[in-house]
Amino acid sequence: MEVSEHKVPRHIAIIMDGNGRWAKQRGEPRLAGHEAGSETVRCVLNYCRDAGVRYLTLYAFSTENWSRPQDEVAGLMALLGTFIQTYADDLVARQVRLRVIGRREDLPAAVRESLERVERATAAFERQLIIALSYSGRSELVRAVRLIAAEVKAGTLAPEAIDEAAVSARLYAPDVPDPDLIIRTSGELRISNFLLWQCAYSEFFVTPVLWPDFREAAFNEALTAYAKRDRRYGGVKSSEEQEASL
Ligand code: FPP
Repeated sequence: MEVSEHKVPRHIAIIMDGNGRWAKQRGEPRLAGHEAGSETVRCVLNYCRDAGVRYLTLYAFSTENWSRPQDEVAGLMALLGTFIQTYADDLVARQVRLRVIGRREDLPAAVRESLERVERATAAFERQLIIALSYSGRSELVRAVRLIAAEVKAGTLAPEAIDEAAVSARLYAPDVPDPDLIIRTSGELRISNFLLWQCAYSEFFVTPVLWPDFREAAFNEALTAYAKRDRRYGGVKSSEEQEASL
């Protein structure tokens, strides 16, 4: 089925899950699954470009993932560093802006520096690849609350002025629209502390496919499912009716 353009999600967010199981099925170390998973990241970036998706957020490392075995954490950080270094020129050539959300201060200095170099080099581009690193939705909200408390204390923000927009404005990437579609691979039915504020009206798509195997057919299946959803945002109208009545 061809997905009509107005039904293409503007923002897709993905919980990339199943790398470990993929490796286990092959009798390989978990890191081999993460390596295969980083190849899927490259492919999905291409599918998003071809489909006209403007924002792609990838949950690459949660604040909880630091408790994994040290060699897996070190391997993932090294993989990320390599990915950024080898892919930096491509992001510039494709005009994709790289952004990191999460506690970037937790990342090894070398990884953080290369990420920030690419963030600066791509800052002017409109299409965005947002990587969630040392991220959790709750800690993002705690951070926003602290920023608000500091402003109230300083007298620059009135308590009565604290509304949804005020909280949204203090998230890691306040200008990025909420995800239209959240995909989770490997069949798990959990949000796992991902974009807790932003997912309020997101559509969910869960596939049993493991992340390293998530290729074009699986991606298209997610887009097709999304195109059939009737988004009512808690009301009775579909999103198309809402747009038509604006
Ligand atoms: C979840 O699978 C996956 C991760 C915790 C890491 C995701 C990282 C990558 C795909 C590699 C690099 C990322 C980028 C952005 C280049 P799991 O290990 O929890 O799998 P399991 O549940 O089967 O054990």
